[in-house]
Amino acid sequence: MTSVNLWPGKGASLRDFAACRSLQVSRCRFATRHCSKIRAVAAPEKQEVRTSLRRNENIGKLQAGYLFPEIAKRRRAHQEKFPDAHVISLGIGDTTEPITGFVADAMKQAADGLGTRQGYSGYGSEQGNPKLREAICNRFYASLGRQPQEIFVSDGSKCDIGRMQMMFGSGAKVAVQDPSYPAYVDSSVMIGQTGGYSETGYDGIEYMVCRPENDFFPDLSQVRPADLIFFCSPNNPTGAAATREQLQQLVDFASANGSVVIYDAAYSLYISDANCPKSIFEIPGAETCCVETCSFSKYAGFTGVRLGWTVVPEQLRYADGQQVIKDWNRVTNTIFNGASNIAQAGGLACLEPQGMKEMQQTIDFYKENAGILYSTFEELGFKVHGGKNAPYIWIAIPGKPSWDTFADILERTHIVTTPGSGFGPAGEGFVRASAFGHRDDIMEAVRRFKEAYGKSS
Ligand SMILES: Cc1ncc(COP(=O)(O)O)c(C=O)c1O
Repeated sequence: MTSVNLWPGKGASLRDFAACRSLQVSRCRFATRHCSKIRAVAAPEKQEVRTSLRRNENIGKLQAGYLFPEIAKRRRAHQEKFPDAHVISLGIGDTTEPITGFVADAMKQAADGLGTRQGYSGYGSEQGNPKLREAICNRFYASLGRQPQEIFVSDGSKCDIGRMQMMFGSGAKVAVQDPSYPAYVDSSVMIGQTGGYSETGYDGIEYMVCRPENDFFPDLSQVRPADLIFFCSPNNPTGAAATREQLQQLVDFASANGSVVIYDAAYSLYISDANCPKSIFEIPGAETCCVETCSFSKYAGFTGVRLGWTVVPEQLRYADGQQVIKDWNRVTNTIFNGASNIAQAGGLACLEPQGMKEMQQTIDFYKENAGILYSTFEELGFKVHGGKNAPYIWIAIPGKPSWDTFADILERTHIVTTPGSGFGPAGEGFVRASAFGHRDDIMEAVRRFKEAYGKSS
């Protein structure tokens, strides 16, 4: 029997020696780094080493992987099967176009400054650069009664959603649009707000069904009151933007039941319909029952740069009269150390007139992509939704599980989409196509869709 002894080399720790003695070769990851000599010895029995730590049972309730890593896994498997295929992703919803010149230059300058004594800065304020808080407020909220001190700059909306769940805690009952961005439900499960999973979703979560039949707005008379209502408009994945009247209904519903709405406005600059508000704070009464989270990710291509914000009005209070903003400030101070100073320099540039203009051009580009995809699927005879106020197209393909449709599209076109059921039970029978893509990829995707699903095929 041949095996190798991976004896740690110079510089290795005692732990390395101990581990090296007990581990099989295949498990000895530091082999190439620390092991200097290789000689044959017998392999010990493979033994699983366990700690005495009990797994968090809430994490154990989660179904499979988080949706997008799962899609990435299937994409990789497909690429291995078809190594020469040019796989096009209309899946995860990541931006593709370069950050515009004005904004990129501002970040370059900030980065260069960090290499100088005068320009260096370390930790900033956990709540964000005061200039950026003010700029966000002036751009988006000043006319809506919000104040700079109510705006908390962050490393993105997803991270804020997680921190908010931590703040509101495991005792909160949650309602979500169904379908919805998976981070709401999965973070609720992780924090312990739910029971187990069944075909109809997680026990304890109120799923507010949003389908074409109800204009993608829940019938609130059928919704059981919850402590927290996650609401996203324009919605990911359906692309539906709620109207002023619908949002007024939502705010009235929340106020009547003492709920807090976590309003996700990550795509609000994609709205072109004048009757669809870009912020929940356009709705009277929202300041006493809503927080709003937003992001530079899909406006400025900051998905990798990481910058967002959350607005917590001073008027928003708990049942005992305490201000929610005080807790949010406490959470921010304790488990967040502020957004990157380079990213914040980029954010400031985005909000200057030139930055706003460039940001709008990027958004318009993706919206043109959305229009191209929308009309393609419509021409092919599918019932299509979204795409007008959002970078997502929601395509109805009833009669078969959406993971099967996802697999079918991938197999026939080498195009990655997202199965609707990944966004919640009511997403079954749909797939989402994202409009984030280079134009030539979008046109190639159109060609392949027509070839695979056109009448003559
Ligand atoms: C609805 C919604 N909210 C939040 C996010 C996350 O945004 P961020 O990149 O700021 O974390 C996304 C990202 O896809 C999203 O679709």
